[in-house]
Amino acid sequence: MTWEDLKKRSYTPYSGNTDACVVEGSQGGFYPGVRIENVSFPLTISSVQAACCICLSYGEIPSVIHVEDDFDPQLPFWVEEFGCTLEMGSIPETVDFMNYRNSSPDKKKNRLKELLEAAITPNSEFPVSAILETKTSFFEGVNVEVSDWAKGLCAERIALAKALTSGDKEFIDISVHTLKGEFSSPCGACRQVLYEHLPLSKVELFHADDTYSEHFILDLLPFSFTSKDLRK
Ligand code: THU
Repeated sequence: MTWEDLKKRSYTPYSGNTDACVVEGSQGGFYPGVRIENVSFPLTISSVQAACCICLSYGEIPSVIHVEDDFDPQLPFWVEEFGCTLEMGSIPETVDFMNYRNSSPDKKKNRLKELLEAAITPNSEFPVSAILETKTSFFEGVNVEVSDWAKGLCAERIALAKALTSGDKEFIDISVHTLKGEFSSPCGACRQVLYEHLPLSKVELFHADDTYSEHFILDLLPFSFTSKDLRK
């Protein structure tokens, strides 16, 4: 894998600025991440944010951040957050990148419940898990919080970041489980991001009280911002 190959998996229809990053975890895993833009620009996920949050979602602490250049403005934050070493230049080619694909769970609900234990929620103590199903795989996510509240990622967006970084964008649906709360409900940011990638799909919600509901993502974001005149 070259930087060029990995960067091609970025989703950057607005700026065209592709970007990628590989984070080495404290236990030796290599976690790639790509830039994922959104029509609502503050919802854009930077490549180092994606890679670090994915690494944390596997229970590893980021220790080395590999990038081709210093394009990503979030680099200083993540270097400082975990005392990482920044390696600029060639991609770590001799290593196996983490395989983010999972096989079909026996029961999504049970797997989502297990996954809740991996959520990193020092601030909110509100664990969330998600499974994004594609034509060929299942991508799991949990919410990850860091010292800057604005730089964590929701479970849904971690699952999406893993899928896109794996070059998989044939989305089928997404399911979400919360441990606490009145009911599971994707936040506004996730609705906007999911709408951009799988607008016609369903979201299956497993609620904390063991009830279930399903909804079209389209219905969760009525009258959403879009236009044929918007350059993509
Ligand atoms: N959270 C999710 O993971 N998904 C959602 O759609 C709702 C919110 C997480 C983010 C944060 O860690 C905590 O729940 C409170 O917002």
